[in-house]
Amino acid sequence: MQTSPSPIRKVSPNGLLWNNSCQYSSGGAGRFRSEKHTVSTKLWGGRFSGALDPLMEEFNASIDFDRRLWLADIRGSQAYARALAAAGLLTEKEAEQIVSGLERVAAEWRAGQFEIRAGDEDIHTANERRLTELIGPVAGKLHTGRSRNDQVATDLRLWLREELTTSEQQLRTLIGVSVERAATEIDLLMPGYTHLQPAQPTRWSHWLLSHAWAWQRDALRLQDLQKRVNLMPLGNGALAGNPFPIDRDRLAQDLGFSAPTPNSLDGVSDRDFVAEALFWATMTMLHISRWAEDLIIYSSREFGFVTLADAYSTGSSLMPQKKNPDSLELLRGKAGRVFGNMSGLLMTLKGLPSTYNKDLQEDKEPLFDAIDTLTGALPIAAGALATLTVNRENMARALVPEMLATDLAEYLVRKGVPFRETHHAAGAAVALTESQGIPLTELTLEALRTLHPAFEEDVVSIWSYERSVEQRDARGGSSRRAVQEQIDELLLWLGQPAPV
Ligand code: ARG
Repeated sequence: MQTSPSPIRKVSPNGLLWNNSCQYSSGGAGRFRSEKHTVSTKLWGGRFSGALDPLMEEFNASIDFDRRLWLADIRGSQAYARALAAAGLLTEKEAEQIVSGLERVAAEWRAGQFEIRAGDEDIHTANERRLTELIGPVAGKLHTGRSRNDQVATDLRLWLREELTTSEQQLRTLIGVSVERAATEIDLLMPGYTHLQPAQPTRWSHWLLSHAWAWQRDALRLQDLQKRVNLMPLGNGALAGNPFPIDRDRLAQDLGFSAPTPNSLDGVSDRDFVAEALFWATMTMLHISRWAEDLIIYSSREFGFVTLADAYSTGSSLMPQKKNPDSLELLRGKAGRVFGNMSGLLMTLKGLPSTYNKDLQEDKEPLFDAIDTLTGALPIAAGALATLTVNRENMARALVPEMLATDLAEYLVRKGVPFRETHHAAGAAVALTESQGIPLTELTLEALRTLHPAFEEDVVSIWSYERSVEQRDARGGSSRRAVQEQIDELLLWLGQPAPV
C-alpha cells in the first residue's frame, strides 16, 4: 500500500501541538523553517533554524558527566592540531595558536575556573567554544576532517588508559599486602571449608594466596585489555574516514597509542573496550566480594578467626556492643553495582546499527561509575587486610579431628588398599565415633581394626593437623614448601615492572 507523505505533527509532552515557531514548509525539501530566524549557538547549528526544546537540550547534553574527559579531550585536540599542520591544513603559527590556546583552556579546568555555559552540549563542544573565545576564528580550523564521533571514542580511550594504570597499581598493592601477610603468617593453620562445612586443615597463608592469585589473574586480564584500549580512532571522521592527508600512525604515536584503529566504521562505533573494561571491573569486584565474604564470616563472633581494625569497622547506633565489618560489606555490595553497569552497557550496545548512534553516549556513566567504584574499593580492601588481627587460638580451636578423616583414608592407601575401600573404612570410623560420642582421634586401634585389618600401630601418626597440611606437598598445595613456592612466584611477578 502506498502512503502519501503527510505533514509531521509534533506533540509536546503536555499533549499540545508543538509551537516552537516551526512550521512545515511546502516550498523546501520538507524541512522545518523558523518564522523568526534564530542563529544557532550549536556547533552543528548550520542545518537548523529552530531551537531545541529546553527539555530536549537537557536530555541531550552529556557535559554534566563527560566534563571529566576534559584533559583527554584537550590532549587529543592538541595532537590533532599538530597532525593538521603536518598535513598542510594549518600553518605552523595557526597550530601553535590552537595548541597554546588549548593549554589555556586546560589551565582553566585545572584551576576550577572553566565556566560551563548554557549550550555547552558536551566536553568537546565546551572546549571548542572556549578555545574560540580565547583565540578567535582560527579555532574553527581545529575540527577539520574530525567528528565528535572519532573524538569521543579517542577521548574515552585516553581517559580509560590512565585510569587503568592507576587501578593496576592499586591491584598490585592489594596483592602485595596478601603476599606479605602470607609470608609472615605462613605457619598459621586454619580449617578449610567446602559447602561452608569444615573440610581439611589448611594454612591461613594458603587462603590469603588463593585470593592473591585471583587478583593476579585480574591484573593479567587488565594488561591484555590495555592492548585493545590503546588503539586510536582519531582520524576516522564521522564514520567514513578522513579526507585530508592525516598521518594517523604519527598521530597515534603522538598520543601514545600503539596503533590507529584499522577500520573507520568500526573505529567510531566500537565500544568493546568499554564492555571489556566493565567485565574486568566486574570480575575484579567479584573477587573482592568473595574475599570480603570469607572475612565477614571469619570475623563473626562464631568463627572469631580475625578481628577487623577499628579503622575499617563501624558501630551500631542502637547496640553499643556492635562492631560491624562495614568495609567488607560495602565491598561485597558494590560488586553488584559494577555488574549492573556492565549488563546495562551490554544491553545498550546489543541492537545498535552501524555506526555511531547517540545511544553510545550512554557508555560513559556506567564506565565512570565502575572505575570510580573499583578505584575506591581497592585501597579499602588493601587497608582492611593490612590492619586486621588474626586470632591464632580461635583458628587452632576450630580445627576438629573429623577434618583428619581423609588422612585416615590416605593412611590405608599408603598400606596398599584401594582408595574407594579406604574411603569407606574412614567413613565408618567417623560414624563409629559419632555413635560413641568421642572424637575421631580417640578411636582405639582395636576399634579401627574392626573396620579394616590394614590399620596398624603407626596410625596414631596421622592425628596431627600439621602433618596433614604438610602431606599436601604437590605443587599448589598447603605444605609450607608449596606455599613458599607460591609466595616466591608472586613476589617475582610483583617485582617485575608492569607493562604499559
Ligand atoms: N557527547 C557525544 C557522545 O558522548 C559525543 C558524540 C556526538 N556525536 C554525534 N554524532 N552527535 O557520544
